Amino acid sequence: MNTHLLALQDFTRTQLQSFLDRAAVLKKETQDGLRHQQLAGRKICMLFEKPSTRTRVSFEAAMYEMGGQVIFMSAKESQLGRGEPLKDTARVLARYVDALVVRTFGQEVAEELAHFSAVPVINALTDLHHPCQILSDIMTVIEQKGDLSELKIVWIGDGNNMANSWVQAASVLGFSLTLACPTRYDPDPAILRAAQQRAEKPITLLRNPAEAIQNADVVNVDVWASMGQEDEAEKRLDVFQPYQLNQALLEHAAPDAVVLHCLPAHRDEEITEEVLEGSQCVAFDQAENKMHMHKAILEYLINGMV
Ligand code: CP
Ligand code: NVA
Repeated sequence: MNTHLLALQDFTRTQLQSFLDRAAVLKKETQDGLRHQQLAGRKICMLFEKPSTRTRVSFEAAMYEMGGQVIFMSAKESQLGRGEPLKDTARVLARYVDALVVRTFGQEVAEELAHFSAVPVINALTDLHHPCQILSDIMTVIEQKGDLSELKIVWIGDGNNMANSWVQAASVLGFSLTLACPTRYDPDPAILRAAQQRAEKPITLLRNPAEAIQNADVVNVDVWASMGQEDEAEKRLDVFQPYQLNQALLEHAAPDAVVLHCLPAHRDEEITEEVLEGSQCVAFDQAENKMHMHKAILEYLINGMV
């Protein structure tokens, strides 16, 4: 198992499968009333430079439910906000806690912290990746649909951090992925190219959302302007309008398709109220599964594979 969880590409299929299997067991045990203590006496520090509701609370709840403790620090209230180098911050925090959970802008920030940290660093979202979210989302897909290998999984909208992590997941886990993104809003080209070269099943980038969604089993959408892109939000409203997931577009998917949204959702932008609140949408299962997946991630990175 890798020391850090920065991007899904850094893991083997067996390792990603272990996270998925373990999270499902932990979820079942939690539902059966079992009290976990695997992380008793352990501490994590959550270092966040961007807002969060789900990721923050689900990591904190996961740690508490495993018997551990959490120290949350917003980066701007720490000495990082006054210019203390990442390499000093990483070396100091690693003397206090058993893992760092980091939400920041540049992937290179998470990488630098990991380089200097003696304890695992977990990427809780950067501009480039959102790996823990995609693991939780794939857990949700498996709950709904079973075996990934025969599914048509579709991404519609911005080729953002979520899309990049889906692309890597498809290549490592071996499922097919079809993306529909407007021109100039593609996934990271190097990530896409590397994933396509490694992939067993096609990873296809299209422009037309109605073509991409044809007979889809799983349809993913996300906000049109991610955190840090607020200045572009208005321009993006026009560019992305044809990519809105509404009932008419969803009609092209398989009749039993499930709709994923990592949340927060902007109703009647990337997804209509009708689709978000409709029976095919599993966004709140995704949100719950973040906690179970984070338990598995914390357990494996802090304690090692069981
Ligand atoms: N899905 C997700 O990462 O949500 P938060 O920004 O609320 O953590
Ligand atoms: N792409 C979104 C995901 C939010 C969870 C963002 O980065 O803001």
